Amino acid sequence: MQKISDRPLGVFDSGVGGLTVMKEIMRQLPGEDILYLGDTARVPYGIRSAETVTRYSLEMAAFLVGKGIKLLVVACNTASAFALTAIKERFDIPIIGVIEPGAKGAVKTTSSKKIGIIGTEGTIKSNSYVHAINALCGGRPTVIKEHGVIRFDRYFEVCLGDLTIFTKACPLFVPLAEEGWASNDVAVLTAEHYLGGLKKEPIDTLVLGCTHYPLLKGVISKVMGDGIALIDSAQETVKEINETLIRLGMEGTPSASPLRKFYVTDAPERFLKVGERFLNQEIEHIEKINYD
Ligand code: DGL
Repeated sequence: MQKISDRPLGVFDSGVGGLTVMKEIMRQLPGEDILYLGDTARVPYGIRSAETVTRYSLEMAAFLVGKGIKLLVVACNTASAFALTAIKERFDIPIIGVIEPGAKGAVKTTSSKKIGIIGTEGTIKSNSYVHAINALCGGRPTVIKEHGVIRFDRYFEVCLGDLTIFTKACPLFVPLAEEGWASNDVAVLTAEHYLGGLKKEPIDTLVLGCTHYPLLKGVISKVMGDGIALIDSAQETVKEINETLIRLGMEGTPSASPLRKFYVTDAPERFLKVGERFLNQEIEHIEKINYD
């Protein structure tokens, strides 16, 4: 029988975005086998209700757990925001989301104690990064203020004692990244619209709270200016995966050709086309599954 430590890691996302997390796993933990599942039939999750995202996420998790994975990574920020607790309650394997590691990274990095968070509408509405940061800082009462009146200007300020968090949904960053428009004029203009409000605030740290945003790092950094640390939840999450594997004695035996298998719920051709750009390498072994 296969040892638990030699089983693959399972990574799931609403679509291709989680490949930014997978890429980071392959960089930090190159010997681990990985099964990746993208729910391309029902992407995007970022505009859906908590109930729907939770239902989809439980189905995706069940598929990967059924494949005998040793640890599940919920690479999607929106799924982590809405469904992590439900997934942890349902399945009896180690499960790691991206919100808590990103929150930890932000708290460690900020010296001004002013943090910006950007993500999908769902992630921002859920306030999950705010709750995670608050929990890390001792759980203080929150005061929420809203700034701006028109759609692109609207952002929230949450005061947690001496720490202030500014949150902003940036939904158009997702299609821009998928279209390969991560650094052109449209991307710069979009980033200026979305980030104009946050830029006026004295933040020194900005959390890229969505799988796609690391692809727009260059533009985001250009618009926000020097001196703003960008926290990539993927990097922080993989540190946590590594620590968990070591703690549980589950590190895989390094192999020369570790398994990378991809499952999607729809349109494998599109996943290949966009995914290879996200992953910066060829995708072999892709299979369309029927989640019903
Ligand atoms: N993967 C999603 C996230 O990180 C972005 C794409 C979507 O909305 O499904 O929140």
